[in-house]
Amino acid sequence: MTQLPGLLDTEAIRKDFPLLDRQVHDGKKIVYLDNAATSQKPRQVLDALNAYYEQHNANVHRGVHVLAEEATALYEGARDKVAAFINAPSRDEVIFTKNASESLNLVANMLGWADEPYRVDRETEIVITEMEHHSNIVPWQLLSQRTGAKLKWFGITDDGRLDLSNIDEIITEKTKIVSFTLVSNIMGTINPVETIIRRAQEVGALVCIDASQAAPHMVLDVQALQADFVAFTGHKMCGPTGIGVLWGRQELLEDLPPFLGGGEMIETVSMHSSTYAPAPHKFEAGTPPIAQAVGLGAAVDYLTSIGMDKIAAHEHAITEYAVKRLLEVPDLRIIGPSTAEERGATISFTLGDIHPHDVGQVLDEQGIAVRVGHHCARPVCLRYGIPATTRASFYLYSTPAEVDALVEGLEHVRNFFG
Ligand code: ALA
Repeated sequence: MTQLPGLLDTEAIRKDFPLLDRQVHDGKKIVYLDNAATSQKPRQVLDALNAYYEQHNANVHRGVHVLAEEATALYEGARDKVAAFINAPSRDEVIFTKNASESLNLVANMLGWADEPYRVDRETEIVITEMEHHSNIVPWQLLSQRTGAKLKWFGITDDGRLDLSNIDEIITEKTKIVSFTLVSNIMGTINPVETIIRRAQEVGALVCIDASQAAPHMVLDVQALQADFVAFTGHKMCGPTGIGVLWGRQELLEDLPPFLGGGEMIETVSMHSSTYAPAPHKFEAGTPPIAQAVGLGAAVDYLTSIGMDKIAAHEHAITEYAVKRLLEVPDLRIIGPSTAEERGATISFTLGDIHPHDVGQVLDEQGIAVRVGHHCARPVCLRYGIPATTRASFYLYSTPAEVDALVEGLEHVRNFFG
């Protein structure tokens, strides 16, 4: 068995993930390499979800009965766990949403309804990048269409990095918000946050970071990042679907208007007007995703017990090995950084002129689960003149043997298509 420095004890970790024992297609053990789409869930998270529904289920912040109090304590306890996980200065800066897309839409809509000094209008500019997931493009296009603000973006270099050579022309005195991904969901690129934030701060622009592909994989410290908003989702970090997070700086959350109105987010309501609860409740209209938040809390406990620095080291070792082995496959072209430096454990590639959907199907027949397509980051495919990629993405339970299985699988694909 291939041993690499920095690997976690995957034999022990994999015992926590029931799904990894699944067999598919006549007894083939699943090789799950679609972690950028969603991670598998450890038993600890599944148990927390079950325990919540079996023992504590009630609505939060409303009841005087014991179950309502327990459910509220569990829901708000999950907020404490998430706040500690991202080193938030205050638990009140952690807003629960449905997913990262909703978190990013929330920021765009807060700004869309804001007064000065945050107001976005036809005199101002919004900056994103060409490597964003659609969820960090479309909300800004909508805001631009609604307000007349100009949408600008950083391009991508041939090797899958952000082209910051014109940073002073892209981020200007007119820029109100710069929103970009910390780690590309299609190419795995880790972006130079400090350089972008320094320039944004020079011109007084707000910064929003999409950390969906970072929070599951590395230490995420919102104070060290120095952004104004950070968005991520629970289901990619061992948590359930249906729960996302938006962290925002307290004074911004106090100043900015709510997006969704309804129960939970108000202080008082009359037929003429309403006043709002303080953040985070101001931004959590309606019954929140209670069980999902509890599940995310359990996921945070799980990841913390292993150590985010150890998870990052494990994934770096796996990525280094995967890049090396994949580059040995004839006709394989990595789309994005072709070294393991400044990149996460997500690798997109093309294989000669075999369509990625065919690659994905033949891999699936061998029990290997990858994602194919444009990965909700179509501008990246357009940039490289390709319709789609095959994407393999790794996590804390991934092993060198799974990398070997992928490489063997690709040999199979090449033989199959001659
Ligand atoms: N955003 C997820 C992905 O990149 C779904 O696959």
